[in-house]
Amino acid sequence: MGNYILKVINLTKIYKTRRENEIKAVNNVSFNIKNGEIVGLLGPNGAGKTTIIKMICRLINSTKGNILYENDIKQKKRLNMAKNITCVLEGNRNVYWRLTVRENLEFLSIIKGYNPKKLKERIDYYIDFFNLRDKEHVIAGKLSQGMKQKLSIAASMVPPTKIVLLDEPTLGLDVKASYDMRKILKKIAEEENRTILITTHDMKVVQNVCNRIIIINQGQIIADDKINNLLHLFELKNYHFSIEGFITDEQRQLLNDIPHLEIKENDKNTEISVHIDKMSIFYRIVRVLENGGSIVKSIENSEIDFEKAYIEILGGIV
Ligand SMILES: Nc1ncnc2c1ncn2[C@@H]1O[C@H](COP(=O)(O)OP(=O)(O)O)[C@@H](O)[C@H]1O
Ligand SMILES: [Mg+2]
Repeated sequence: MGNYILKVINLTKIYKTRRENEIKAVNNVSFNIKNGEIVGLLGPNGAGKTTIIKMICRLINSTKGNILYENDIKQKKRLNMAKNITCVLEGNRNVYWRLTVRENLEFLSIIKGYNPKKLKERIDYYIDFFNLRDKEHVIAGKLSQGMKQKLSIAASMVPPTKIVLLDEPTLGLDVKASYDMRKILKKIAEEENRTILITTHDMKVVQNVCNRIIIINQGQIIADDKINNLLHLFELKNYHFSIEGFITDEQRQLLNDIPHLEIKENDKNTEISVHIDKMSIFYRIVRVLENGGSIVKSIENSEIDFEKAYIEILGGIV
């Protein structure tokens, strides 16, 4: 069966609504996750991400399919599974508002079946890790949105579970708080030997944190690969040429059929921006400029942008 920690096989979820309507939220989804992988689960709103997370942590039952934890084919070790997965759900109250930060970390460990006395060191470690030391004895209800979210994630890290499921960890946070959260997630990715499945809309989270992504749309997987492979597939690059003076009509004509190319003129310069998928187009632009005697002051290339790749993947398939 190979070296996986989580195996999702032909998972399907049909929600029955009151008017006897059926919504196929998840449609025959299969994927494996290896120990220590950090996988991003991406997709537009309503794609089925949260439903998959809820089925993996057994909050809801699947309509069809199987979720196997390690080699537990017969699922004898349900308890073991609960002890080995923690989950932070989007939008839910993952922590108890009337308990303090420390009490939450202790109580949520008990719920997972761990003795908090034995986890004291870990609790202290994560209080510092998440920068919550000065809030240790403050009740969760009094924390800012960003701190509540930090506490939720801290609570999922304290019990020594092998798998952590995070549903939209940066959703609803302001700019500063989501920046902090991304830094924390990056640190977790680098320092923790956990297997993490994280759903997000935040491309920066994907780029900084995940080593593999699964893209789902309308309940089905449309891509599952290492980030680098997906980027390579699309090779989206932005180039920006700054040219002294203006280009000729003939040059314009020669550049005319290049897609995603934009020419802007200001007082003294011409700026050409282009979004290319083949290096041959880059060289063609350089040749047109060179042959026309243009003086190129600078060429900048912006980093490969994951968001553009993602939109391209969705655009190509939807
Ligand atoms: N409890 C529910 N009852 C009925 N439909 C639901 C329920 N939860 C989610 N859905 C529907 O299932 C689909 C997938 O939802 P969800 O898993 O929340 O997607 P995502 O997390 O990717 O935004 C959506 O069409 C949503 O409206
Ligand atoms: Mg969701």
